[in-house]
Amino acid sequence: MTATVPAMSAAKLRLQSATAGVTSRYPSRDQALAVPPAGSHLKPVMGNYGFPVLGHVMSSLVEPLEFARARYARYGPVSWAGGIGFRVVQLMGPEALEAAWINKDKAFSSTRGWAPVIGPFFHRGIMLLDFDEHRDHRRIMQQAFTRSALNGYLDLMRPGIKRTVSAWPATQRFPFYASVKHLLLDQAAEVFVGARLGAEADQLAADFHDTVCGGQALIRADVPGGAWARGLRARERLERYFSARLPARRAGEGTDLFSMLCRSRSEDGDRFTDADVVNHMIFLLMAAHDTSAIAVSMLVYELGRNPLWQDRLRDEALANPDDELTLDALDGYPLLDAAFNEILRMYAPAGTLFRQAIADTEVAGHYIPRKSQVAINVYASMRLADWWPDPDRFDPARFLHGADAGPVHRYAFAPFGGGAHKCIGRQFADMNVKAIMHQLLRHFDWQVPVGYHPPMSWGTGPTPADGLPITMRRRF
Ligand code: HEM
Repeated sequence: MTATVPAMSAAKLRLQSATAGVTSRYPSRDQALAVPPAGSHLKPVMGNYGFPVLGHVMSSLVEPLEFARARYARYGPVSWAGGIGFRVVQLMGPEALEAAWINKDKAFSSTRGWAPVIGPFFHRGIMLLDFDEHRDHRRIMQQAFTRSALNGYLDLMRPGIKRTVSAWPATQRFPFYASVKHLLLDQAAEVFVGARLGAEADQLAADFHDTVCGGQALIRADVPGGAWARGLRARERLERYFSARLPARRAGEGTDLFSMLCRSRSEDGDRFTDADVVNHMIFLLMAAHDTSAIAVSMLVYELGRNPLWQDRLRDEALANPDDELTLDALDGYPLLDAAFNEILRMYAPAGTLFRQAIADTEVAGHYIPRKSQVAINVYASMRLADWWPDPDRFDPARFLHGADAGPVHRYAFAPFGGGAHKCIGRQFADMNVKAIMHQLLRHFDWQVPVGYHPPMSWGTGPTPADGLPITMRRRF
């Protein structure tokens, strides 16, 4: 799949930035979200709407970290902010995140939380299911993520990674983020869908790209020519694509993810309907793609700025005599593990998660009324100095065995979420990132100009908006 992935235009970034500058200065009065019930001893959630209609949307897109940390300093771990007609409760810090993820009184719905954000494009994907139905689907899906299934995916992905990475040019201003997105799209065709590269895979990539962009559109209406409308049409084409190929996958013996989902059965023998497989496939492509692209890109960026760490990781990769990675060898990368964790902490690729309160509830002693839209801010939570000393500094040593006791809360480091919806693909992501980095470290060294910081936009999480140009040098 080789659809072009355009970097966000500088003009669009400048416009967003200017709008944020104007809207952030709007004087907006602090208010309680709702009055807690008498005698409940709960505190109200405090916050303000911000600029009329738009609320704080532009600031949270343009300066998500600064915006969230300022709210945390002013209101604490639970606050609210306005955004395009909604009042959105913001949760930050490990205790608040834990309460939403563990969801002990089943007051938080993922279906309703995610619906206004990505519902039309990813409806009935597993992350958008709730409670018993979600549990039943997860039991079936789990069978497509067993160790032997992962082994099959790694076998399918290794040749493509080697072929692509070794063909990358040694050049200045190599657009790394855009290139790794291409690599992952090709990989999605082969490993997820079991499709051959070529025109069919290119169309698949284009439709997938438009579906994802639909969910991120600022103008959220089916206006002809708009990103939302393009996304809806692309989703329809993806549905037709997967439906048409489903019977053959059910009957076949493929080891790609599509075939595995078709054949997966829970321990009780339940399996997915045709519609389930289609919905899950479309969601899985999205869940895996942008998150992994952000993780690899930001790791390469930080290693480009920190040559000592790059050298240490390279020595570790070269210590493995095999040019190709196996599942058993994955544990032999403590330094890469530490660096990957540090990237997930600094640039949480699934940066904000959504829920809706379907009953009155509380988080960290704050009263949250039914129907509140809730944003779980994973990204900014892992950048709080309360939990991470010098939080903006890249320091993989935080995660090395024997490092200081470090963060003391179970959810201080939680890039894959927690509770029932915790990421099902974390081993897949780990194996994929390591397989790519193994090739890259062995074949290239790279650097970024002194003082270079990529302009960032917001996709599923913080995303380099300029394609991430780096200088690549072939090692032999
Ligand atoms: C660095 C890469 C990744 C990160 C940081 C990440 C992060 C997350 C997070 C935070 C959630 C929780 C969502 C919520 O609670 O609302 C999640 C869910 C999910 N992720 Fe990932 N993810 C990554 C890669 C992947 C990959 C590679 C796959 C598939 C191959 C995947 C599949 C899923 C699925 C299916 C869910 C929904 C699980 C459920 O609702 O039961 N993810 N991911």
